[in-house]
Amino acid sequence: MRTRIANVILTPGVKDDRHIPFVPDAEVLVEQNRIAFAGRREDAPAFEADVTIDGQGALAMPGLCNAHTHTPMTLLRSIGSDLPLDRWLNEAIFPVEKHLTDEAVRAGSDLGILEMLRFGTTSFNDMYMHMDMEAQAVRDSGMRALLGHGVVDFDGSCDDLLPNLALVEKWNHAADDRIRVSLAPHSEGATTPAVLARIRDAAQRYGVPIHIHISETRADQEGSLARRGLTPLGYLEKLGLLDDPVLAAHCVWVTPEDIERIVRYGVTVLHNPVSNLKLASGVAPVARMLEAGCRVALGTDGVASNNNLNLWEEIKLMPMLQKGVTLDPTVVSPAQTLCAATYAGAQALGYRDLGLLKEGWLADLILVDLHQPHMAPANDMESNLVYAAQGSDVKLTMVDGQVLYQDGRFLTLDAGLIVERAKREAAQLLERAQRAQG
Ligand code: NI
Repeated sequence: MRTRIANVILTPGVKDDRHIPFVPDAEVLVEQNRIAFAGRREDAPAFEADVTIDGQGALAMPGLCNAHTHTPMTLLRSIGSDLPLDRWLNEAIFPVEKHLTDEAVRAGSDLGILEMLRFGTTSFNDMYMHMDMEAQAVRDSGMRALLGHGVVDFDGSCDDLLPNLALVEKWNHAADDRIRVSLAPHSEGATTPAVLARIRDAAQRYGVPIHIHISETRADQEGSLARRGLTPLGYLEKLGLLDDPVLAAHCVWVTPEDIERIVRYGVTVLHNPVSNLKLASGVAPVARMLEAGCRVALGTDGVASNNNLNLWEEIKLMPMLQKGVTLDPTVVSPAQTLCAATYAGAQALGYRDLGLLKEGWLADLILVDLHQPHMAPANDMESNLVYAAQGSDVKLTMVDGQVLYQDGRFLTLDAGLIVERAKREAAQLLERAQRAQG
């Protein structure tokens, strides 16, 4: 399949903190699942296209990567809203999650993928349960994802590692390599040194990354200091886990020494500003981390603490929050923000050739409507993109060379059916939970 996307303004994306480049009068040529050309129309090579898409002056850019989420939690949308984090987890979330079934997780995964595609997310990094169902949803939808079974181990039995290892064996590099698998210990507080040592060995054996929650709350940080005499990152360092690629969600309460560790070991910080605000966890020191040279990617976290999967909200909030907290409007540039929402996440997922629109790279891209009132005039395009654009401006979402969403239509998914099934599964799930609580 050869696709020409004509009549667009192009940003190939960014991998550092310089300005975002824009190429007017551009086109993108896609052959199978890779970019054959992205640049000025007059420089394009001869190309026999099977399909030509008229971009109508939209912005062609790399697809967004939601670098930390729990997709099936769409079924728990808005549950326990505005409770303190410990009560939210223990009274609202855990009692319901206990009653999840394969069918519920499949329904929630499909709903989440639908929502992400609608808002221009082309890949995501997930940690949850019943992951075989989520992997099937990713495979069938055409989406791209890094998936891990969230491992908890309170008793040192390491039993909960088994489904994660099975997931690696079955799904790593599946669906034409659109699915990759991580090892996903939930957090320092929910695991034992025994299971973390086995995860370290397995990560090395399989060559897969480790995805973990780090210092999300003050209680996480202080609890770790009390239990281990070390911060969560100091503890992982001592156990040798930082020698593998580590994707560290949150990092809200990290110390200056932790920031040094993040840089030294090349840990990717997965920043979730909306979720951290909603649960009153705090504000991660992202400006300081970027200044120190940390890699930072953006995520929504689960829908139950967000309450949607529209990464454009994080795109706007990431720089805003840092300016507000540091009282310095010059920190966190649009380019750093776009990088966190695209390239940094794509690289963290383990793909070396994803996150920029570049010849030979994987064709995950979106078209953003520039003709809406809130995008005019384009006095400063990069500022418009980060502060003015809306998720609903996404007109087209392509993953691995295949158009999955275009102008209100989903090409691989039956949106009406998925929404209805998700509502039904959510109602049944809440009913099971309520019945169990008497
Ligand atoms: Ni999370």
